Amino acid sequence: MIKVLVATEKPFSPAALEAIRGIVTTAGCELSLLEKYTDRHCLEEAIKEVDALIVRSDKIDKEILSAAGHLRVIVRAGAGYDNIDLVAATERGICVMNTPGQNANAVAELVFGMLIYTVRNFYSGTAGTELRGKKLGILAYGNVGRHVACLAQGFGMEVCAYDAFCPSEVIENDNVKSLDSVADLFRTCPIVSLHIPVTKETKKSINYEFLSLLPQGAILVNTARKEVICEPCLARMFAERPDFRYLSDIRPDIHADLAASYPDRYFSTPKKMGAQTAEANFNAGIAAIRQALAFLTKGDERFRVNN
Ligand code: 3PG
Repeated sequence: MIKVLVATEKPFSPAALEAIRGIVTTAGCELSLLEKYTDRHCLEEAIKEVDALIVRSDKIDKEILSAAGHLRVIVRAGAGYDNIDLVAATERGICVMNTPGQNANAVAELVFGMLIYTVRNFYSGTAGTELRGKKLGILAYGNVGRHVACLAQGFGMEVCAYDAFCPSEVIENDNVKSLDSVADLFRTCPIVSLHIPVTKETKKSINYEFLSLLPQGAILVNTARKEVICEPCLARMFAERPDFRYLSDIRPDIHADLAASYPDRYFSTPKKMGAQTAEANFNAGIAAIRQALAFLTKGDERFRVNN
């Protein structure tokens, strides 16, 4: 019998879990659940006998994988798979997949949740500003970037984007201005929203060279990953530019300093919660279990991200 483990330090919604359980039971498979674990050994123990593993941002490294005796597929219920050691998985013959797009709307909505909270001065009662007519630059035009563009247009914003891989015709087709470079985006857009994945190339890539180009009154929104930011550059930008604001769905390592020094220019969610909605959990969770079972029963490798 196929054994599936759902291991989520940050649990899915009850509705998503119920739907996953229904699919697993109907397929005649066995489901085990590990939620809110604080000790990695619990995961090492739980992974021993399973064929499929479904995770969110849970760290799956070489050590964890070495405890997995039967594991054949890992599905990251979400977009970013930087939490999984792909090389170690490939070495062990394990297929790794993600579920692109399934939680994109939730992340995009949080961008605007944080933006409105900020431009209305954290609901302090003082006069804020509006989003309408403001220029937004989207860095990377993937699933989340596209949803952000669509919502921004609803707010009446002027929307621009740069993506090193997406053809400019695709961007322009959405009535979004395609820019020629990252520098162009930072130079011309007072509000910038980051949607790049973390890779060797993007790590610490949002550096002082780009940040310092931002126009007066700039707001940088990060619902991507903390690793894409050069944090000393961010600290320098805060110190030099009293007009600069930073909103993050991922606590930077320098969170305590920023929160203490710039409480009216910095906001971070306490825990990464862009994708933490019932709908996103449901969509990503269902896609994950379907993909895992399709791989195990039919060898379907769509959405595979390792070689
Ligand atoms: C993703 O990469 O899909 C998002 O960052 C969501 O991550 P989460 O599942 O940990 O909320």
